[in-house]
Amino acid sequence: MKKILAIVLSFITMTATANEIDKRQVLSITEIQRNHVLTEMRAFLAGTQGILDALLREDMAAVAKHARPLGMSMAHKGEDHLKEVLSKEFMHLGMSVHKDFDQIAADAESLKDPKHTLRQLSESMKKCVACHADYQIRIKERPARLGGAQPSHNQHQHQHQH
Ligand code: HEC
Repeated sequence: MKKILAIVLSFITMTATANEIDKRQVLSITEIQRNHVLTEMRAFLAGTQGILDALLREDMAAVAKHARPLGMSMAHKGEDHLKEVLSKEFMHLGMSVHKDFDQIAADAESLKDPKHTLRQLSESMKKCVACHADYQIRIKERPARLGGAQPSHNQHQHQHQH
């Protein structure tokens, strides 16, 4: 009975959110650029989990090992082509998270203080939250004809039936 109620409730919440339009700022990028950004994002999530797991064991060397690849070295991997298409604020926020992870790695090695690392991680993750609250990614529509710039229909998902 409880289970059924839970299913009904989650269905109601799901339909309620499905009817709302995503009003976050749209980043219109290509499929390849989207894949680049999202691959990086999943590395952020996996790395953060790795850091938390290492902290649980108070293994500060492992903290540094998980944090370092999320630092500026990751940002240098082919992000130049994104600079032109993503807004300055977006890039700035992203870079500042990369810098945070370099700092987390450095402090884990020098201070070896799990609580300090936790505080840094929590502080930095406010930027993950802030950016996700403001932006969404949409794949740039290719012009149907050469030179034929199509008006973008970002907000409406037209279902063309053939
Ligand atoms: C500068 C902006 C920005 C920052 C900072 C940021 N993200 Fe993201 N992230 C995005 C955007 C934009 C998307 C795509 C959201 C959408 O289109 O709905 C995304 C998507 C994701 C996804 C989904 C990946 C997928 O495969 O669909 C994960 C997971 C994620 N972010 C984790 C994180 C974590 C963890 C952090 C912080 C350590 C973080 N992000 C920081 C902008 C950001």
